[in-house]
Formats: sequence, C-alpha cells, structure tokens
Amino acid sequence: MTYIPDKSRYGGMKYNRCGKWGLKLPAVSLGLWHNFGGTDIFENGRAMLRRAFDLGITHFDLANNYGPPPGSAEENFGKILKQDFSAYRDELIISTKAGYLMWAGPYGEWGSRKYVLASLNQSLKRMGLEYVDIFYSHRPDPDTPLEETMMALDQAVRSGKALYAGISNYPAEMAREAIQILKELGTPCLIHQPKYSMFVRWVEDELLDVLDKEGVGCIPFSPLAQGLLSDKYLKGIPENSRAAREVFLKKSDVESAHDKIVKLNAIAQQRGQSLAQMALAWVLKDSRVTSVLIGASSAAQIDKNVNALKNTTFNNDELLEIEKVIKSE
Ligand SMILES: NC(=O)c1ccc[n+]([C@@H]2O[C@H](COP(=O)([O-])OP(=O)(O)OC[C@H]3O[C@@H](n4cnc5c(N)ncnc54)[C@H](OP(=O)(O)O)[C@@H]3O)[C@@H](O)[C@H]2O)c1
Repeated sequence: MTYIPDKSRYGGMKYNRCGKWGLKLPAVSLGLWHNFGGTDIFENGRAMLRRAFDLGITHFDLANNYGPPPGSAEENFGKILKQDFSAYRDELIISTKAGYLMWAGPYGEWGSRKYVLASLNQSLKRMGLEYVDIFYSHRPDPDTPLEETMMALDQAVRSGKALYAGISNYPAEMAREAIQILKELGTPCLIHQPKYSMFVRWVEDELLDVLDKEGVGCIPFSPLAQGLLSDKYLKGIPENSRAAREVFLKKSDVESAHDKIVKLNAIAQQRGQSLAQMALAWVLKDSRVTSVLIGASSAAQIDKNVNALKNTTFNNDELLEIEKVIKSE
C-alpha cells in the first residue's frame, strides 16, 4: 500500500540542536543495526520505518556493516527509501559509518583514507543516495594517524557526499584531538556517538564535558542496554529476543543484571513509566545529550519508547534511588 505519512508527525516530537550547530535531531532516533538485515523480515523493517517517521523520528542511523550479512541493512533501507520516502528526502537525516570490517584485504576496515572513502561510496550505492547527512568514523584506528581519518571525513563533506562529519566510540582525549583537527580542516565535528545507558556510564567521566565545551552534539547508542533496560527480561528470556540469539547480548548478561532490572522496574512504575521509558528519559535528562539512538524489533516498541518523552524530569530522590540500584553489587 502507498505510504502516506501522518500529517501530524511533527506535533509530538521534540527536536534538539546538535551541540552549537544548526542541525536538529529528534530526541529519539532509530538505528538499523538489528532487524533490518537480509535475514530479517523486510516488511517488519518497513513498518518500523513508517511508524517512526509518523511519530516525528526524522533520523535513521546506519553503518556499512549492519546486517547480517554486512551491507544488507543499507540495501534494505535503500529499497524502503525508494518505495516510501523518496518524496521526503529533505525531511530525513540519514547517517552511515565506516570503521568495522567490510571487505577482504588490508583496505577493508579501520581508518585509512583509502578505506573510509571507498566505504562511503559503497554505502551511497547500496542506499541509492547522492549523499548522507552524517558520515562517521565508526571507531578510532590505533594504527592510522588521526589526521588521516579526519582528512577523509573532511574530504567526504567537501565532495558533497556527506553534509556533516561525526565520530563514534572515540575516548575523551582522542575525541578532543579529532574535534580540533576537524576544526583546523574547516569541517567541524557535528556529533559524537558513544555507548551510554544507566548500565554503561563511561561518558560521564570526561567525554560529555569535552563535547559540551566544543559545542559538539552527543547521540548515545544502546540506551536500553540492548533491551536489558526494559520489562522484556523480568521473567526470563523470551524466544526471539536479542539475548535468546546469544550474539551481541548474552543470556549471562541478563542473569547478572536481573536483580537491578527488577528494582529499576519498580522505580519506573512509581513514576508511571515502563522501565524502557524511564531508561530513555534518564539518558535524555542531560542537556548535553542531543538524541537517544534506540533499536527496535517492532513498530509497537517504537511507539512505547517515544512515549518516554512525556516525562524526562527526575526528582532528587528518584535519581538517588536509581543510583543506589545501579551501583549495588
Ligand atoms: N556506533 C556504534 O558503535 C554502535 C554500536 C551499537 C549500536 N549503534 C547504533 O545504536 C542503535 C541502537 O542500538 P541498540 O539496538 O543496541 O539499542 P537499544 O535501544 O539499547 O536496544 C534495542 C533493543 O531493545 C529491545 N527493545 C526496544 N524497545 C523495547 C521496549 N519498549 N520493550 C522491550 N524491549 C525493547 C529490542 O530488543 P529485541 O530485539 O530483543 O526485541 C531492541 O532491538 C543501533 O541500531 C545502531 O544504529 C551504534
């Protein structure tokens, strides 16, 4: 059926500026790491993208290697874009990344100029796009000078194949250097994409301050700790869940987090939210965070998660109670 986006799609979403820059992202963005690959149900992915856009989610995040198999999420996304979203390209912020293994030989991963720019060309072809809105270095490369990787991002932007440059998984000090190099090259760093959730707190030590000082946005990934921070695993491990597949999330992760999940769920209920909603609100309470980058396996999950925006403030007692649970042994 022809897709006609909801006319009221911009009414319920909040849009936040990326640091000091002009670009705004929805407070909730959708990533296509899982459930959009060649082995997944195409129509489910399509329904998720349609629902997301209807809810005001204008930002879809990809990477060269998302699948499985690697590349297939970009291919499927390209098909859906063509079928459903071709009239709405200017309403969308599409990002992709290069950094992880994509092809054989010495030029198929990490941060050389050769790899990064070849990968962007491949991504554009798979998605059927002339440009992406944000192009990221997906991970720092310990063996390539930072200048080389940043020069490749700068080139991507200057060539018009990307509108903005971003970095992902860069520790604070390296992020500071990368931001400085990009500034000198004349292509400022728009945004950093780090892992951050109630369970993964490293960004609080230094990175968030660096980004704030430099006016760079922050879009945390896995804000639900891949689903651990939801009611999904309260009573065991459901079939078809990410933990049941034992690839990126392990059954042992569920077991070790179980007591905390139960206690956090009780706090969420007192706030009148689901645990997933509270976990997203908790990340968004920090004004240095531009958007939370969620994943989903159904359109219904996206609906529920966007409802987190109805309450993103916490009183001190709630924050202390949450902290006590997270830090308990
Ligand atoms: N830059 C990087 O290195 C990097 C790394 C990882 C991810 N990312 C990006 O971040 C995005 C999000 O990562 P993520 O998928 O790990 O994020 P996440 O939001 O922490 O986890 C998403 C998973 O949580 C479960 N879930 C979501 N909403 C739920 C709800 N309301 N109730 C119960 N369960 C719910 C689903 O699992 P089930 O499938 O079990 O239903 C879903 O697939 C990725 O798609 C990607 O774009 C980037």
